Amino acid sequence: MKPYIYITRKLPDALVKPLQEKYDVKMWKHDDIPVPRDILIEEVKKADALLSVLADSIDEAVLTAGKNLKVVANLAVGYNNIDLKTASLKGIAICNTPDVLTDTTADLTFGLLMTTARRIVEAAEYLKEGKWQSWNPFLLAGTDVHHKTLGIVGMGRIGETVAKRATGFDMDILYYNRTRKPDAEKKLGVIYTSFDELVKKADFIVCLTPLTAETKNMFTREVFQKMKSSAIFINVARGAVVDEQALHDALVAGEIAGAGLDVFQVEPITVDHPLLKLPNVVALPHIGSSSTETRTSMIELCIENISSILEGKEPKTLVNKDWRPLVKG
Ligand code: DGY
Repeated sequence: MKPYIYITRKLPDALVKPLQEKYDVKMWKHDDIPVPRDILIEEVKKADALLSVLADSIDEAVLTAGKNLKVVANLAVGYNNIDLKTASLKGIAICNTPDVLTDTTADLTFGLLMTTARRIVEAAEYLKEGKWQSWNPFLLAGTDVHHKTLGIVGMGRIGETVAKRATGFDMDILYYNRTRKPDAEKKLGVIYTSFDELVKKADFIVCLTPLTAETKNMFTREVFQKMKSSAIFINVARGAVVDEQALHDALVAGEIAGAGLDVFQVEPITVDHPLLKLPNVVALPHIGSSSTETRTSMIELCIENISSILEGKEPKTLVNKDWRPLVKG
């Protein structure tokens, strides 16, 4: 019997073809509706491999149901939706999609920063709504990006690539990370600071840190109050790194000037979300890595990782480094 692979979102047939040639593959029928939990559990009971997305909770119950499960390939660089500890205990390899999305996510991050600072969405809407009457000296005046101070929280691959973008805008770049990055300091001229110093000094605070127990809710009201009142906060990491109520209140109170958000505590958000009511918020539907080229590469990488595990080879991008295969059916 061929190994059985379950894919939790509808993906383009052409991309899934290499898997279908070798394995028995089933895909959830929608690309925009998550697979219901009961169906996921039923499918995982039969599956040798799962191709999941970040909206799927791959928790202990799912991993336990996967008696034959050998690999979960998550279509994201982040893997906070997966219980890694249980996966390792059960001999299930967890793979993600780093590297292939670095430039694309850095582009979106910098684009969101620019868009928020220069009020681009507001300006485009103003025009479409027929409000443009005449030239006006301070019409939709934003704030400059060039020669300002950028503070990057979470200096991984994407953080470094955002810093590279920022050097072209003659920005001073501060960063805060669990570990120092001497190579990046040398190459990009970035300066390591404490979190406290970074939030006080930066004009733009860009959050790119993974969601972990330590980073959950790290941006509290107190943190926003330490920022400059002209500061702009950008989040392209995970929504739960931010206390959303605190961000909302800080924006309303004028404690910071604006926010550009690609991620939210609970996704998707709906139009009645309080942050969407604020004119100084630019909000996007979690599209950090969403270019056709990059999403294609991410799917290809997931497929490669699944094939490697099922063929007894080293996967390219393993997350749970303590993973050891167990003999399964
Ligand atoms: C990731 O890969 O973790 C991103 O958030 C997806 O856009």
